[in-house]
Amino acid sequence: MSANAFVVNTSGAEDELAAENVALRAQLELYGRDINKTVRSLGGAIERLEIAHHQALLSLAKAAEFKDGDTGEHIVRIGVLSEHLGRLLGLDATFCEMLRYAAPMHDVGKIGIPDSILKKPGKLSEQEWDEMKRHPEYGARILSGSGVALFDLAAEIALHHHEKFDGSGYPRGLRGTEIPISGRVVALIDFFDALTMKRCYRDALSDDEALSMIKEGAGSHFDPELVNLLIANADDFIALREQINRGDVAVGNTSA
Ligand SMILES: [Fe+2]
Ligand SMILES: [Fe+2]
Repeated sequence: MSANAFVVNTSGAEDELAAENVALRAQLELYGRDINKTVRSLGGAIERLEIAHHQALLSLAKAAEFKDGDTGEHIVRIGVLSEHLGRLLGLDATFCEMLRYAAPMHDVGKIGIPDSILKKPGKLSEQEWDEMKRHPEYGARILSGSGVALFDLAAEIALHHHEKFDGSGYPRGLRGTEIPISGRVVALIDFFDALTMKRCYRDALSDDEALSMIKEGAGSHFDPELVNLLIANADDFIALREQINRGDVAVGNTSA
């Protein structure tokens, strides 16, 4: 037997392996390109879906505006100023951005209140007031059940924006941190904005008057930590409000 008989010729197998590697790499490259393409188109679809959610909420807010007579600027201010307060408080950035779109929905439940009550020029009777106090629940019912996080947050805000820190609010009489932070933020911003806005039945209060009323409500009507933040940063809030009034900031404009 010759010595060569014990030498295994591996060059054929190596060539085959190398060819398989090249084919595999080419395949992987193709998969990689497919995955990138899929991720890009998914990203685009998610972005379009988010825009559709924002638009749906804004349309609902506009529908409520027709009923309530609130100005479009009020809706924008509530969103932008709530987001700003959330950021000052150090809340999660995504949550703050969601506040911007969800907060304007706080009064959407007024769609369910008869005009005879909503637009009554005089004082409401006890019975009418009881009906008026149901608008947070109506709002939550309109907004809940979609399974979309942004709509769930809007429902949470609608339900809690008239709760008070000392438990004397409605509809559930929750107190302190039992009230979700979204509700506590919007309750304060809504009050500040409503006071400094001209209504058909009264002139706008000055910023100083509004801020001193807010200070008085710290711990009773409002979360005192939020009041401190608003007072300490009042100039920023007022500047932001003026920017919105000039039309420089919209709910959909995230540069504020
Ligand atoms: Fe309300
Ligand atoms: Fe409001």
